[in-house]
Amino acid sequence: MSDEPILSLSGVSKSYGAVKALLGVGFAVGRGEVHAILGENGAGKSTTLKIINGEVEPDEGEVRLGGRATSAAERAHGDIAMVHQELAVFPNMSVAENIFVGRMPRKGGRIDFARMYGRAAELLRLFGLSVDPREILGQLTPGQQQIVEILRAVESDASLLILDEPTSGLNNVEAETLMNLIKRLRTSGHTILYVSHRLHEVLEISDHVTVLRDGQFVETLENRDLTENDLIRRMVGRNLEPVEQPDPAALSDAPAALRIEGMSLPGAFEDMRLDVRRGEIVGVFGLEGSGAEEFSRAIFGVVPPTSGRMELLGQPVHDLSPAALMARGMSYLNGNRKEAGLYMGRCIADNVTAPVLDRRSRFGFVDPRAIDKQAREDIRRFAIRVPGPEGLPRQLSGGNQQKVMVSACLASAPEVIVLNEPTRGVDVGAKAEVHDVARREAAAGKAVLVFSSDLPELLRLAHRIVVMRTRRHAGEVAGQAMSEESVMALAAGGH
Ligand SMILES: Nc1ncnc2c1ncn2[C@@H]1O[C@H](COP(=O)(O)OP(=O)(O)OP(=O)(O)O)[C@@H](O)[C@H]1O
Ligand SMILES: [Mg+2]
Repeated sequence: MSDEPILSLSGVSKSYGAVKALLGVGFAVGRGEVHAILGENGAGKSTTLKIINGEVEPDEGEVRLGGRATSAAERAHGDIAMVHQELAVFPNMSVAENIFVGRMPRKGGRIDFARMYGRAAELLRLFGLSVDPREILGQLTPGQQQIVEILRAVESDASLLILDEPTSGLNNVEAETLMNLIKRLRTSGHTILYVSHRLHEVLEISDHVTVLRDGQFVETLENRDLTENDLIRRMVGRNLEPVEQPDPAALSDAPAALRIEGMSLPGAFEDMRLDVRRGEIVGVFGLEGSGAEEFSRAIFGVVPPTSGRMELLGQPVHDLSPAALMARGMSYLNGNRKEAGLYMGRCIADNVTAPVLDRRSRFGFVDPRAIDKQAREDIRRFAIRVPGPEGLPRQLSGGNQQKVMVSACLASAPEVIVLNEPTRGVDVGAKAEVHDVARREAAAGKAVLVFSSDLPELLRLAHRIVVMRTRRHAGEVAGQAMSEESVMALAAGGH
């Protein structure tokens, strides 16, 4: 056995116009290890992975596999499989066809459908997905589609597996299943390159961690006695400020800006209630299957509830559709980019201002100067890494796309702001920025409702947390009584 690394990069550079995505990056990955690549949004992680996968040709530098210099074309057809940060699936094909695309099992020159469906069902069971392999992929939830993409890579049996934020669209149970699958793949000799902003995952599964900052290599660390803070310091090049707790004074008796009573959607959630006052940040937390996810969508009329009452700014709401709610001063961020997405073919300025185009237009004409001005302000406010407002979202790193969505959500100057998973795929620094934005909006008298599966995030951000269990309201905790234990006791119902 040789100690030759399975993969090594040296002097790899890549520019997109004036943007230097990578500058002289070099590191090595040992055979049979899980190697994480870490860095802030826009640090160059996805670009590095796409170069390794042979999709992107570097301007300079060398990528060696098993000690041998390779071309991008060779790698693209080689023993490498990649799961992309943004879904890369065929929505009109069946689940099984998506898993076996290009490699359908054959018998006597014909596709062996029985074997294909059987094997697909086996793979789906790994993740506890009760999905028929014959189902059309587009019918599945984004999280399930993500799992299918992961299964495709696993089934390809490539010895080098590249996973770019595979868990960003998964729930906690699915993410845990993936962690276990990765550990099994490592045991069976696979090498895995792994990117995630969930630092606890990185610490749990990786043998080495390579840190990139501003397109440059910082260092490769052995994952031994490393803490989240060690990783953060290297990613951002400084310690992050300790987070401030929300100001309890904000728990005033201001009027409720959003009130929900007896809201139900059969099979999804029952008899939900909550209110959010001006100046308040209220969190909603629930474990998988608690109904919190469905409730978050119902509130903005994405999947409207069948019964219940909603009051917005003191007035009853009869038309629970996204357009009507927006016109009444509510705004909604769907942090699941895989579901909501941006207008990929429209420039960033248009994306930021899409929700308010009618307000930015005069006499029916869109005022391009006003749009450009707002977009520039937002790009500065959120530190979005982008050449300019004319750029396209697909030129942005994933986390920066998320920031564009947050600014689009606030562009209409809403009074009631609903944030659903606002920091998915967002790096630690940007996460703090998004939290600051939510605090500032609340301090300015807005009502903020946050759905997050990240409990520490809610504990930091919210004045009050509404907990859901078995598709119902399980209780609320506020102020001093808010802790991981008190929330989990309600969420899991362990008495
Ligand atoms: N096709 C492209 N055209 C123009 N610029 C691009 C393109 N792809 C990436 N970039 C730029 O290259 C830089 C690195 O992007 P990359 O996607 O590699 O970041 P990342 O580390 O994966 O970030 P994230 O954590 O947000 O996913 C960013 O500044 C990005 O805007
Ligand atoms: Mg990326």
